[in-house]
Amino acid sequence: MNEHYPFELPPLSYGYYDLEPHLDGDMIKTHHTVIMQNYVDKLNSLLARFPQYQDWSLKALVAYADTFPPALRKELKNSAGGLYNHYVYFNSMTPGGRMPTQRLMNQIKNTFGNFENMKKALYNSALINFGCGYTWLVCNKSCNLQIINTQRNNTPPLTVVSPVAVIDMWEHSFFQQYVNGRDDYINAWLEVADWSKVCEYMACSTALDTLQDNVQRNPQGNIQGRQ
Ligand SMILES: [Fe+2]
Repeated sequence: MNEHYPFELPPLSYGYYDLEPHLDGDMIKTHHTVIMQNYVDKLNSLLARFPQYQDWSLKALVAYADTFPPALRKELKNSAGGLYNHYVYFNSMTPGGRMPTQRLMNQIKNTFGNFENMKKALYNSALINFGCGYTWLVCNKSCNLQIINTQRNNTPPLTVVSPVAVIDMWEHSFFQQYVNGRDDYINAWLEVADWSKVCEYMACSTALDTLQDNVQRNPQGNIQGRQ
């Protein structure tokens, strides 16, 4: 995806039918090519009228939307928020799912006790996220985790937290396959959740963990493959 205007529909890292049987391929295709594309188009059309904001990144537009002029703010929060939230959503899934990195797992244990408890807490929050909304796992700058429900296309405050993963709880995400079975949809999503995508505040810590692991494995400082 372009860093700034004009935005483009970002391709998925998997095929539309690769999340089956958990999430129906036609449903994922419509969600990506129609609904997410609509947010791309709306945002580009909006920014075409406000050239002074055309060099803003998507994340900055979302994070600082409340500071924009009133004439722009509501539409911006809907279109940029819709695009950003779907970007995180589609990146929160992978065929077969993927377990958390060690760093994230440590934080999950610190906050929720264990991985299963975290998934249950996420499930419970998503289940009561009625109407149109998203259920997020986010981390703050201290790498502490939190589950947040947002409504419409609102996004957690990106100036203080960063998303790890999100479940889209708008009806268009599941109705075609599960109708009113929100619980079945959440369980299906958990089967394909990609927990290996750490939040940005964990990135440097993860690199440090890897370095420390290597030092512990190779206390002499030998580099694998060299004597
Ligand atoms: Fe959606």
